[in-house]
Amino acid sequence: MPAIVVLGAQWGDEGKGKATDLLGGQVDYVVKYNGGNNAGHTIVVDGEKYALHLLPSGILSPGVVPVIGNGVVVDLGVLFGEIDAISARGVDTSKLLVSGNAHVITSYHTTIDKVGERFLGDAKIGTTGRGIGPAYADKISRVGVRVQDLFDEKILRQKVEGALDQKNQLLVKAFNRKALSVDAVVDELLEHTERLRPMVADTSLLLAQALDRREVVLLEGGQATMLDVDHGSYPFVTSSNPTAGGACTGSGIPPTRLDRVVAIVKAYTTRVGSGPFPTELTDQVGERLRANGGEFGTTTGRPRRCGWYDAVVARYAARINGVTDFVLTKLDVLTGFETIPVCVGYRVGDTVYDEMPMSQTDFHHAVPVYEEFPGWDEDITAARSLDDLPKNARNYVEAVEAMTSVPISVVGVGPGRDESIVVRSLV
Ligand code: GDP
Ligand code: IMO
Ligand code: MG
Repeated sequence: MPAIVVLGAQWGDEGKGKATDLLGGQVDYVVKYNGGNNAGHTIVVDGEKYALHLLPSGILSPGVVPVIGNGVVVDLGVLFGEIDAISARGVDTSKLLVSGNAHVITSYHTTIDKVGERFLGDAKIGTTGRGIGPAYADKISRVGVRVQDLFDEKILRQKVEGALDQKNQLLVKAFNRKALSVDAVVDELLEHTERLRPMVADTSLLLAQALDRREVVLLEGGQATMLDVDHGSYPFVTSSNPTAGGACTGSGIPPTRLDRVVAIVKAYTTRVGSGPFPTELTDQVGERLRANGGEFGTTTGRPRRCGWYDAVVARYAARINGVTDFVLTKLDVLTGFETIPVCVGYRVGDTVYDEMPMSQTDFHHAVPVYEEFPGWDEDITAARSLDDLPKNARNYVEAVEAMTSVPISVVGVGPGRDESIVVRSLV
């Protein structure tokens, strides 16, 4: 029975949080499967704005069990800070579960992330500085600390000692920083142990049992396809797999149990941090998209880089993720533009690509080939069916849909939960 993946098709901030929240009433579990508090999801319910980072977006739906899966990296201070802040606003967080196999972000991860970026200078990634890359690096290097390690102090101490042996060399000799003491790091982690204990579970087993009972499990990706460490614009990516494969490894649900992959795609494109972005607009048109769309990061407050819709990226996301449905968000932000260009291919020298170029050098030099569509001036925020849209807005939706051969099942026309056109149910 249904396991549904919701993920980002572009460079993040497509409106995944809103889409997940929209489905909240129809699902039993919402599982965050990758990333950590580098994510920032703004969700608006009855005019109330919530900014979520580490908590799954399903937390705002009363019937849902929110799950932090094994693929996530967890900063415990941030977790409890977020739980306290959201509980104070009357949201029930008592059902939250955390995988014992999830890795923990410690203070040395955030330090190394920030200092490492400084050392990269102009080549910096523009990370969120939340320790994400260093925590995943430790996981892959097999020197990470897992949530379950917190419940065995002897093991925890051994692991922290092992990790700090290397880290202190790096901090002191390469980064000119003070060495960290094992005691300080162990104490920092143990501070949260008792509060965490009741939330920790074998989440992969629980999710398999839920699917056996024919309950609906939604797997929520942080970041997005073009930020995927394997399939994105490497090295300007995050350190996890936001793509559909990551939903399996990051939750313990096998590919044979996924039956829907919903990709969220903005009606234009944004990117935060460094790296190639073929349709980027560095002029006043880009400024106008940023202002109209409120394109400032939920996590770091940085202005997002803005550009036109890129059908090459959307096609790539459809292929890499096996997308069954697109949710096209923020169509309302395009209201008022006289013409709306859409990138349908890339020109690199004498070659025109309609698929993602294999080489990073080509992608860096890609010049968009645009097709232009006439805009509309009418306010579309009250539209609740495609028939309610002005002709040109509907044409735009149908044109970008035809460019990927995957149906657009929902169109976003505003930030509110109800500001959506649902063409086809996602559950
Ligand atoms: P996420 O990280 O993918 O969850 O996206 P963010 O929350 O970082 O950024 C998306 C922003 O767009 C949020 O502020 C949402 O409230 C807002 N949003 C989502 N869908 C729509 C939409 O259809 N129209 C408008 N105007 N805003 C939207
Ligand atoms: P959501 O889930 C947009 C970007 C950072 C940086 C790169 C690596 O809200 O869509 P990291 O801290 O992960 O090592 O940074 O990835 N990035 C995001 N950009 N939305 C996000 O999350 C992002 N999470 C990371 O800006 O370029
Ligand atoms: Mg975001």
